Amino acid sequence: MYILGIETSCDETSVSIVKDGYLVLSNVISSQISKHAVYGGVVPELAAREHLTALIPVTNQAFKEADISLKDIEALAVTNGPGLIPALLVGLSFAKGICTEHKLPLLGVNHFIAHIYAAFLNESNKLLANADSYPVMALVVSGGHTALVLIDKDKTAKIIGTTIDDAAGEALDKGAKILNLGYPGGPVIDKLSESGNRNAYHFPRSLTGGAGKPLAEENIFNFSFSGLKTALLYHIDKIKLENFKEHTLLDTVASYQYAVIDVLCIKTIRACRKFKCSSVVLCGGVAQNSLLRTELESRIPKNVKFILTPKEFCGDNAAMIAGLGFHYLNCKEKDIEIDAFSRLPEITQIPFVPDI
Ligand code: KG4
Ligand code: ZN
Repeated sequence: MYILGIETSCDETSVSIVKDGYLVLSNVISSQISKHAVYGGVVPELAAREHLTALIPVTNQAFKEADISLKDIEALAVTNGPGLIPALLVGLSFAKGICTEHKLPLLGVNHFIAHIYAAFLNESNKLLANADSYPVMALVVSGGHTALVLIDKDKTAKIIGTTIDDAAGEALDKGAKILNLGYPGGPVIDKLSESGNRNAYHFPRSLTGGAGKPLAEENIFNFSFSGLKTALLYHIDKIKLENFKEHTLLDTVASYQYAVIDVLCIKTIRACRKFKCSSVVLCGGVAQNSLLRTELESRIPKNVKFILTPKEFCGDNAAMIAGLGFHYLNCKEKDIEIDAFSRLPEITQIPFVPDI
């Protein structure tokens, strides 16, 4: 079965064709980053206009690469939240138009859950049916989310920790903005950090319990990154931005990035041990970070499987939407009236775990 996936929740227009919920035949992504960079962040109305221009050529390209036509498609899966409402509405309206004209079922897909599903596309899909993979601890790290999700083989899902302020990607993007490194900051910080000393300066590891104070029960698995920005501002003030030598900048960037990554690893390992998990999934845009990928893998207990999302499926993409849509086919109403939503709803069930 071929499903057409459409993703327009933020600043990437993506269209994908996925077979049987896991085999990615095409995954075309058109990034608007250069359009938003001048503003230092994503402008929702501009994002919506850009999606409008990009959707038709991106869709045509997706069909060309998959080498099939619209008559082969059996359902449409579209991101309907969480995300920027004006941006979501463009993808949603486009999908509704196709579904009405071609009498196809329309599936509204949750973008946050889709980021987790991205780890199970293509050949990794077989891990889902393996009872030994569970319980799974998923670390979802993107520009909008930072959360630990516990998934069990009975399809239950529980967000056991989330950020109480900024997301990890947001912390990297805002840090880069303070240091005039451009937007989005995550990839720039990743690259520059390779040439810096990550232990040169100490930035805070909030909510890790390292400050001599006991951690409140509710924050054991929660994250907080907003204090890091303030620490960076104090650090710059102390050194004075104009006195920054090249190595000062590189060491600052590497130390700042390491503070984010260290916290993500500490909390994930802590959660993995506490819930006796058999696998850890790393997913979301920040999962492209080279140090996070190697550092988390090196810290995971040897008897725990590390399921690393391929880089091509970490950032926003429609393959994860089409893939997850397949699992919504039997458990959701295929309603042409579906609406967009901006915030993450409570998650208690994961539809993609098979009956095992
Ligand atoms: O998942 P995503 O594409 O969009 C959201 O759903 O938010 O994630 C975007 C985030 C941005 O904050 C960006 O800076 C970050 O992912 N990012 C990275 C890297 N590539 C993208 N962060 C760290 N290292 C990278 N290589
Ligand atoms: Zn995303």
